[in-house]
Amino acid sequence: MEVVDVVLKAKHLTALTGAGVSAESGVPTFRGKDGLWNKYRPEELATPEAFARNPEIVWEWYKWRMKIVFNAKPNQAHYAFAELERMGILKCLITQNVDDLHERAGSKRVLHLHGSLKVVRCTGCKKEFEVNEPPEKTLCECGSLLRPGVVWFGENLPEKILRDAIFELSLSDAIIVAGTSAVVQPAASLPYIVKRNGGIVIEVNPDVTPLTEIADISVREKAGKFMKELVDEIKLRLSSKTP
Ligand code: OAD
Repeated sequence: MEVVDVVLKAKHLTALTGAGVSAESGVPTFRGKDGLWNKYRPEELATPEAFARNPEIVWEWYKWRMKIVFNAKPNQAHYAFAELERMGILKCLITQNVDDLHERAGSKRVLHLHGSLKVVRCTGCKKEFEVNEPPEKTLCECGSLLRPGVVWFGENLPEKILRDAIFELSLSDAIIVAGTSAVVQPAASLPYIVKRNGGIVIEVNPDVTPLTEIADISVREKAGKFMKELVDEIKLRLSSKTP
Protein backbone atom coordinates (compact mmCIF):
# COMPACT_ATOMS: atom_id res chain seq x y z
CA MET A 1 0.00 0.00 0.00
CA GLU A 2 1.50 3.32 -1.06
CA VAL A 3 0.71 6.61 0.62
CA VAL A 4 -0.07 8.24 -2.72
CA ASP A 5 -2.72 5.59 -3.50
CA VAL A 6 -4.35 5.94 -0.08
CA VAL A 7 -4.41 9.72 -0.33
CA LEU A 8 -5.89 9.70 -3.84
CA LYS A 9 -8.55 7.17 -2.86
CA ALA A 10 -9.54 8.86 0.41
CA LYS A 11 -12.90 10.60 0.51
CA HIS A 12 -12.14 12.50 3.70
CA LEU A 13 -8.43 12.88 4.40
CA THR A 14 -7.39 14.72 7.55
CA ALA A 15 -4.01 15.45 9.08
CA LEU A 16 -2.71 15.73 12.63
CA THR A 17 0.56 17.60 13.00
CA GLY A 18 3.01 18.19 15.83
CA ALA A 19 6.21 20.07 16.57
CA GLY A 20 8.27 17.91 14.17
CA VAL A 21 6.52 19.56 11.22
CA SER A 22 7.89 22.97 12.27
CA ALA A 23 11.34 21.60 13.20
CA GLU A 24 12.64 22.21 9.68
CA SER A 25 11.59 25.85 10.07
CA GLY A 26 13.93 26.16 13.06
CA VAL A 27 11.23 25.94 15.73
CA PRO A 28 12.46 23.64 18.54
CA THR A 29 10.47 20.49 19.30
CA PHE A 30 9.57 19.50 22.88
CA ARG A 31 11.00 16.00 23.11
CA GLY A 32 14.06 14.32 21.65
CA LYS A 33 17.72 15.27 21.77
CA ASP A 34 17.36 19.06 21.31
CA GLY A 35 13.80 19.21 22.66
CA LEU A 36 12.67 22.07 24.92
CA TRP A 37 11.67 19.67 27.71
CA ASN A 38 15.30 18.50 27.86
CA LYS A 39 16.42 21.99 28.85
CA TYR A 40 13.39 23.34 30.67
CA ARG A 41 10.92 21.90 33.14
CA PRO A 42 7.32 22.03 31.90
CA GLU A 43 6.00 22.36 35.46
CA GLU A 44 8.03 25.60 35.86
CA LEU A 45 6.94 27.16 32.58
CA ALA A 46 3.81 25.62 31.12
CA THR A 47 1.27 25.20 33.91
CA PRO A 48 -1.26 27.60 35.49
CA GLU A 49 0.54 27.09 38.83
CA ALA A 50 3.89 28.18 37.34
CA PHE A 51 2.24 31.31 35.92
CA ALA A 52 0.61 32.12 39.26
CA ARG A 53 3.96 31.66 41.04
CA ASN A 54 6.18 33.51 38.62
CA PRO A 55 4.46 35.22 35.68
CA GLU A 56 7.63 37.14 34.73
CA ILE A 57 9.65 33.97 34.08
CA VAL A 58 6.79 32.32 32.21
CA TRP A 59 6.29 35.43 30.07
CA GLU A 60 10.02 35.66 29.36
CA TRP A 61 10.03 32.10 28.05
CA TYR A 62 6.94 32.62 25.92
CA LYS A 63 8.27 35.90 24.51
CA TRP A 64 11.43 34.06 23.51
CA ARG A 65 9.35 31.37 21.77
CA MET A 66 7.13 34.00 20.13
CA LYS A 67 10.23 35.66 18.68
CA ILE A 68 11.42 32.36 17.19
CA VAL A 69 8.02 31.49 15.76
CA PHE A 70 7.21 34.95 14.37
CA ASN A 71 10.58 35.06 12.60
CA ALA A 72 10.32 31.50 11.26
CA LYS A 73 9.13 30.70 7.75
CA PRO A 74 6.92 27.82 6.65
CA ASN A 75 8.79 24.84 5.23
CA GLN A 76 8.01 22.31 2.51
CA ALA A 77 5.77 20.29 4.82
CA HIS A 78 3.54 23.31 5.64
CA TYR A 79 3.31 24.18 1.93
CA ALA A 80 2.51 20.59 0.98
CA PHE A 81 -0.39 20.37 3.46
CA ALA A 82 -1.74 23.69 2.15
CA GLU A 83 -1.44 22.44 -1.42
CA LEU A 84 -3.30 19.22 -0.57
CA GLU A 85 -6.14 21.34 0.85
CA ARG A 86 -6.19 23.60 -2.24
CA MET A 87 -6.43 20.50 -4.42
CA GLY A 88 -9.53 19.47 -2.47
CA ILE A 89 -7.80 16.36 -1.09
CA LEU A 90 -7.12 17.37 2.52
CA LYS A 91 -10.32 18.31 4.33
CA CYS A 92 -9.00 19.46 7.69
CA LEU A 93 -5.69 19.99 9.43
CA ILE A 94 -5.58 19.44 13.17
CA THR A 95 -2.44 20.69 14.84
CA GLN A 96 -0.89 20.65 18.28
CA ASN A 97 1.42 23.45 17.18
CA VAL A 98 1.04 26.92 18.62
CA ASP A 99 2.82 28.56 15.68
CA ASP A 100 0.94 29.91 12.66
CA LEU A 101 3.17 28.36 10.00
CA HIS A 102 0.36 26.24 8.53
CA GLU A 103 -1.75 29.36 8.01
CA ARG A 104 1.18 31.32 6.60
CA ALA A 105 1.75 28.51 4.10
CA GLY A 106 -1.87 28.90 2.95
CA SER A 107 -3.83 26.30 4.96
CA LYS A 108 -7.37 27.52 5.66
CA ARG A 109 -9.06 24.90 7.80
CA VAL A 110 -6.69 24.60 10.74
CA LEU A 111 -7.80 23.46 14.20
CA HIS A 112 -5.32 24.49 16.90
CA LEU A 113 -5.77 22.01 19.74
CA HIS A 114 -3.20 23.72 22.00
CA GLY A 115 -3.97 27.37 21.25
CA SER A 116 -1.74 29.90 19.56
CA LEU A 117 1.24 32.13 20.29
CA LYS A 118 -0.50 34.75 18.14
CA VAL A 119 -3.12 35.17 20.85
CA VAL A 120 -2.77 36.92 24.19
CA ARG A 121 -5.65 36.68 26.66
CA CYS A 122 -6.56 38.67 29.76
CA THR A 123 -6.79 36.54 32.89
CA GLY A 124 -9.37 39.02 34.28
CA CYS A 125 -11.76 40.33 31.59
CA LYS A 126 -10.90 37.42 29.20
CA LYS A 127 -10.45 39.82 26.27
CA GLU A 128 -8.25 38.37 23.52
CA PHE A 129 -5.68 40.21 21.42
CA GLU A 130 -3.84 39.13 18.30
CA VAL A 131 -0.11 39.84 18.39
CA ASN A 132 2.53 39.84 15.67
CA GLU A 133 5.43 40.31 18.04
CA PRO A 134 6.05 39.58 21.72
CA PRO A 135 3.89 42.03 23.71
CA GLU A 136 5.72 44.83 25.50
CA LYS A 137 3.12 45.08 28.23
CA THR A 138 1.74 42.06 30.01
CA LEU A 139 -0.98 43.99 31.87
CA CYS A 140 -4.45 44.44 30.39
CA GLU A 141 -6.25 47.83 30.37
CA CYS A 142 -8.52 46.35 33.03
CA GLY A 143 -5.50 45.92 35.32
CA SER A 144 -5.30 42.13 35.21
CA LEU A 145 -2.41 40.07 33.93
CA LEU A 146 -2.31 39.01 30.29
CA ARG A 147 -1.31 35.44 29.49
CA PRO A 148 -0.26 33.59 26.33
CA GLY A 149 -3.22 32.07 24.47
CA VAL A 150 -1.88 28.55 24.69
CA VAL A 151 -3.06 25.46 26.55
CA TRP A 152 -0.95 24.62 29.57
CA PHE A 153 -0.54 21.24 31.24
CA GLY A 154 -3.52 20.60 33.47
CA GLU A 155 -5.82 22.81 31.38
CA ASN A 156 -8.64 21.67 29.14
CA LEU A 157 -8.36 21.92 25.38
CA PRO A 158 -10.64 24.52 23.75
CA GLU A 159 -13.95 22.68 23.78
CA LYS A 160 -15.33 23.63 20.37
CA ILE A 161 -12.03 22.99 18.60
CA LEU A 162 -11.72 19.54 20.15
CA ARG A 163 -15.34 18.80 19.23
CA ASP A 164 -14.76 19.93 15.63
CA ALA A 165 -11.61 17.80 15.43
CA ILE A 166 -13.44 14.71 16.67
CA PHE A 167 -16.24 15.35 14.17
CA GLU A 168 -13.79 15.66 11.27
CA LEU A 169 -12.04 12.47 12.35
CA SER A 170 -15.32 10.61 12.60
CA LEU A 171 -15.77 11.33 8.87
CA SER A 172 -12.20 10.44 7.95
CA ASP A 173 -11.20 7.36 6.01
CA ALA A 174 -7.52 8.30 6.17
CA ILE A 175 -5.25 10.44 8.32
CA ILE A 176 -1.67 11.63 7.96
CA VAL A 177 -0.07 12.02 11.39
CA ALA A 178 3.16 13.98 11.01
CA GLY A 179 5.84 15.15 13.43
CA THR A 180 4.28 14.22 16.74
CA SER A 181 5.68 12.02 19.50
CA ALA A 182 2.05 10.98 20.15
CA VAL A 183 2.38 11.03 23.92
CA VAL A 184 0.32 14.06 24.94
CA GLN A 185 -3.36 13.39 25.49
CA PRO A 186 -5.99 13.80 24.22
CA ALA A 187 -4.28 14.70 20.91
CA ALA A 188 -2.39 11.38 20.84
CA SER A 189 -5.65 9.41 20.90
CA LEU A 190 -7.31 11.22 18.01
CA PRO A 191 -5.94 8.98 15.21
CA TYR A 192 -7.56 6.00 16.98
CA ILE A 193 -10.97 7.41 15.94
CA VAL A 194 -10.01 6.96 12.30
CA LYS A 195 -8.51 3.53 12.95
CA ARG A 196 -11.60 2.29 14.81
CA ASN A 197 -13.78 3.33 11.88
CA GLY A 198 -11.68 1.23 9.51
CA GLY A 199 -9.69 4.18 8.15
CA ILE A 200 -6.01 4.21 7.26
CA VAL A 201 -3.41 5.75 9.57
CA ILE A 202 -0.25 7.06 7.93
CA GLU A 203 2.55 8.14 10.25
CA VAL A 204 5.34 10.44 9.05
CA ASN A 205 8.13 10.59 11.62
CA PRO A 206 11.82 9.68 11.50
CA ASP A 207 11.32 7.93 14.87
CA VAL A 208 9.07 5.21 16.23
CA THR A 209 6.23 6.47 18.47
CA PRO A 210 3.42 4.81 20.44
CA LEU A 211 1.23 5.42 17.37
CA THR A 212 3.48 3.26 15.19
CA GLU A 213 1.76 0.16 16.58
CA ILE A 214 -1.55 1.06 14.92
CA ALA A 215 -0.16 2.85 11.85
CA ASP A 216 -1.00 1.13 8.56
CA ILE A 217 1.91 2.92 6.91
CA SER A 218 4.98 4.26 8.73
CA VAL A 219 7.11 6.69 6.77
CA ARG A 220 10.49 7.06 8.49
CA GLU A 221 11.38 10.37 6.90
CA LYS A 222 11.35 14.05 7.68
CA ALA A 223 8.01 15.65 6.93
CA GLY A 224 9.41 18.36 4.61
CA LYS A 225 10.99 16.05 2.06
CA PHE A 226 8.33 13.38 2.21
CA MET A 227 5.29 15.68 1.99
CA LYS A 228 6.77 17.60 -0.96
CA GLU A 229 7.48 14.37 -2.83
CA LEU A 230 3.96 13.16 -2.06
CA VAL A 231 2.36 16.30 -3.51
CA ASP A 232 4.63 16.15 -6.58
CA GLU A 233 3.65 12.52 -7.17
CA ILE A 234 -0.06 13.31 -6.75
CA LYS A 235 0.20 16.13 -9.30
CA LEU A 236 1.97 13.80 -11.72
CA ARG A 237 -0.68 11.10 -11.34
CA LEU A 238 -3.54 13.57 -11.73
CA SER A 239 -2.00 15.23 -14.78
CA SER A 240 -1.34 11.92 -16.52
CA LYS A 241 -5.02 11.01 -16.03
CA THR A 242 -6.38 13.95 -18.03
CA PRO A 243 -6.56 13.35 -21.78
P1 OAD B 1 7.28 16.48 20.38
O1 OAD B 1 8.43 17.40 20.55
O2 OAD B 1 6.84 15.71 21.55
O3 OAD B 1 7.57 15.45 19.23
C1 OAD B 1 8.10 15.86 18.00
C2 OAD B 1 8.14 14.64 17.10
O4 OAD B 1 8.53 15.07 15.80
C3 OAD B 1 9.13 13.56 17.52
O5 OAD B 1 8.48 12.30 17.51
C4 OAD B 1 10.22 13.61 16.44
O6 OAD B 1 10.74 12.32 16.12
C5 OAD B 1 9.44 14.16 15.26
N1 OAD B 1 10.24 14.92 14.28
C6 OAD B 1 11.35 15.67 14.49
N2 OAD B 1 11.74 16.26 13.36
C7 OAD B 1 10.86 15.88 12.40
C8 OAD B 1 10.71 16.16 11.01
N3 OAD B 1 11.55 16.97 10.36
N4 OAD B 1 9.66 15.60 10.35
C9 OAD B 1 8.79 14.78 10.99
N5 OAD B 1 8.89 14.48 12.29
C10 OAD B 1 9.90 15.03 12.99
O7 OAD B 1 6.09 17.39 19.79
P2 OAD B 1 4.51 17.14 19.87
O8 OAD B 1 4.19 15.71 19.68
O9 OAD B 1 3.91 18.13 18.96
O10 OAD B 1 1.92 20.74 24.40
O11 OAD B 1 4.23 17.54 21.36
C11 OAD B 1 2.94 17.48 21.84
C12 OAD B 1 2.73 18.53 22.88
O12 OAD B 1 3.70 18.40 23.92
C13 OAD B 1 2.94 19.95 22.39
O13 OAD B 1 1.83 20.49 21.70
C14 OAD B 1 3.17 20.69 23.68
C15 OAD B 1 4.16 19.72 24.30
O14 OAD B 1 4.28 19.77 25.67
C16 OAD B 1 1.61 21.76 25.17
O15 OAD B 1 2.35 22.72 25.31
C17 OAD B 1 0.28 21.64 25.83
